[in-house]
Amino acid sequence: MSQERLIVACDFGTTSFRAVICEVDDGGSVTIIGHSEHKCAGFLDGDFIDLKTGSRAIAATVSALEKSTDTFVTGFTYNISGSHLRSVRSMAQVPIGPGPRPIREGDLEEVRQRVRSLAIPFDHKILSVTPVEYVVDRVRGIVDPVGRVGSQLEMHAHLITGSRTVLHNIENAVETSGYQPLGEEVDVLAAAAGLLALPEKEAGVMLIDIGGTATNWVVFAQGTVQANGMVPLGGHHLTQDLAHGLRISCEEAEDAKRERGVVLRSLVDEVPVEVLFEEELPKETPGLLAAILEPRFEEILALVKQDYGDMGQLARLQAGVVLTGGGSRPRGAAQLCEEVFDLPATTRYLPPALAGAESLPQGQWATAIGLSLGAAADAVELDALQAPLGGGGIIHRIRNLFRGGKRNREALSAKA
Ligand SMILES: Nc1ncnc2c1ncn2[C@@H]1O[C@H](COP(=O)(O)OP(=O)(O)OP(=O)(O)O)[C@@H](O)[C@H]1O
Ligand SMILES: [Mg+2]
Repeated sequence: MSQERLIVACDFGTTSFRAVICEVDDGGSVTIIGHSEHKCAGFLDGDFIDLKTGSRAIAATVSALEKSTDTFVTGFTYNISGSHLRSVRSMAQVPIGPGPRPIREGDLEEVRQRVRSLAIPFDHKILSVTPVEYVVDRVRGIVDPVGRVGSQLEMHAHLITGSRTVLHNIENAVETSGYQPLGEEVDVLAAAAGLLALPEKEAGVMLIDIGGTATNWVVFAQGTVQANGMVPLGGHHLTQDLAHGLRISCEEAEDAKRERGVVLRSLVDEVPVEVLFEEELPKETPGLLAAILEPRFEEILALVKQDYGDMGQLARLQAGVVLTGGGSRPRGAAQLCEEVFDLPATTRYLPPALAGAESLPQGQWATAIGLSLGAAADAVELDALQAPLGGGGIIHRIRNLFRGGKRNREALSAKA
């Protein structure tokens, strides 16, 4: 294995920190070669609220990865999540010339620059700019305007911004843990990169990631991001409801949810909800679990639908809804989602064909995988740009920007 071809990504989740290490070949194909997971600590709503505890948990996650794969990690890419994220639509125009002429790459670059100059709060940083459509002389829906004749180019884009202080805090936690922060990506976009195929994004699809204390969603249509958002409820709230309803501890409720959880009452023996209000401790049955879990799960999905708000566009999402995140694991999740959205729905946790993915244990690896795929694509793209300049190729690029190397203990001791 060549030491320059390794990429490391870490998903800071509200339940767990999960890291993966991948190998990238010359063509940009990615193979997962290792993973590690550690309980989330010092991290709440996308921010490190306890730097010491948080950075220790990061160090424990990544050093376990180093140990299990016998690698030496210098830094990694990670996800950005939480209620500090904001989404906005931006629009910019550039005149093309005194008269109509074919649009050039330079015009496209200029309109892209202008679209970023939208007034955003001074304490926010732009994390992602996705073109929604180009308009040339009032002709809408243009995907690539270069070469088209026109006299005015307009770009509509979806921007996601994040609080500078939170971003700085996360960088600080990564550095304190002893690693270099090497790149960041919005959580739900990373999960989408790991899970959704281009034909689905073109047909129209909503991805809903039900995590621990939050549910993030994103809608794609015409191959590009249309909208995204967050609802502050997740699997943790289902556990709390069970603990409350069954009068058991949160640990017992978590086990019951994972082992026997059902979120659709019609799949099991239906139990009237009034049973929960009886003096006598209710007897736990699948029906009773469903009676407690269904309303909360339905509430999460209904809030996502309301947060998106565009019912016209929603009805046109031909590829339906894809559910992911540990919170979507209970039985009946996809069926209940179909009822709420009146669209086909499915659950998905891993990309359909990714080498090495079969070695991952059950869990939410899609975000870390998506981060790795993004980093690999960046590396390959830069490699292609550097090649004509004699820039050393993908191996050179990955060595300089990305983070893992096979630890060569013999070489190190020989040096000493
Ligand atoms: N098999 C399962 N059945 C039911 N619930 C599960 C199962 N596995 C995990 N969960 C629930 O999934 C939730 C955690 O989901 P996930 O691991 O996707 O969150 P996270 O990525 O750490 O958090 P976030 O994405 O919100 O930052 C927890 O509430 C957990 O109880
Ligand atoms: Mg997550």
